[in-house]
Amino acid sequence: MVANADAAVPLLLSEVRNVLARGNLPLISFATGGTFGAFFRALATEVQQGRISTTEFIGTHLDEYIAYEPQRRGGMVHELTLRCPPLREMLARGTFLPVPCHGAEGSMRAHEERLQRAGGVKLQLLGIGRNGHIAFNEPGTPLDTRFHVTELAESTRLDARSRFVPDEPPKRAVTSGVQTILGGERLVLCAFGQAKAEAVRSMLHGDVSSACPASVLQRHPNALVLLDTEAASLLEGNAAAAGG
Ligand code: F6R
Repeated sequence: MVANADAAVPLLLSEVRNVLARGNLPLISFATGGTFGAFFRALATEVQQGRISTTEFIGTHLDEYIAYEPQRRGGMVHELTLRCPPLREMLARGTFLPVPCHGAEGSMRAHEERLQRAGGVKLQLLGIGRNGHIAFNEPGTPLDTRFHVTELAESTRLDARSRFVPDEPPKRAVTSGVQTILGGERLVLCAFGQAKAEAVRSMLHGDVSSACPASVLQRHPNALVLLDTEAASLLEGNAAAAGG
């Protein structure tokens, strides 16, 4: 349990340091969204002050809106590189691997192979949607998927609205699949705020089922869940941190 998103930052940075300490250019896969805002600010500071080097890892991320090239406002890579400018330099150097945004089957398979050639994801950061999605695996998505094109749930589009005004949020995205996510060596999911409480309860106390894609974390042998008090408020016994 952590007090808030800021309090999670040192823990997230130490997750990054742990994976970097093992060497061999580990592949770190980031999540986008409000949950990781404070973390990305802190990561940028660590890099700018020389405590973490972007030459020590390969970066990637979970999902991208259809037709949102890395430079396009509202897109996931655009957001990541805005919040954490060192990732923009990695993108320019070719050491940040963007999710292909056009949804062609071949491009998604090629991306998946690139991740494998980079050694596979060693650290995967995850947020959770208030409907229980991870990446953009919306409720009902089969649990054996790899990178694929998905229709976004209405609640997901609503939550994304502010980043697209005055336009409508996109309807489709390319997303890492549940199977791909489970292939990550270490998973760290963060959830903060009351709006996530119901999804967190289903994730940790519900059956493992496509009704709550995040519930698959119960099957991962090396997953950590970081919650604040509000996100943990509906857990039995209010046990606030779970890890396998
Ligand atoms: C985005 C992603 C999503 C978000 C989730 C939570 O890359 O993978 O699953 O992590 O929608 O979003 P926030 O953090 O904005 O509440």
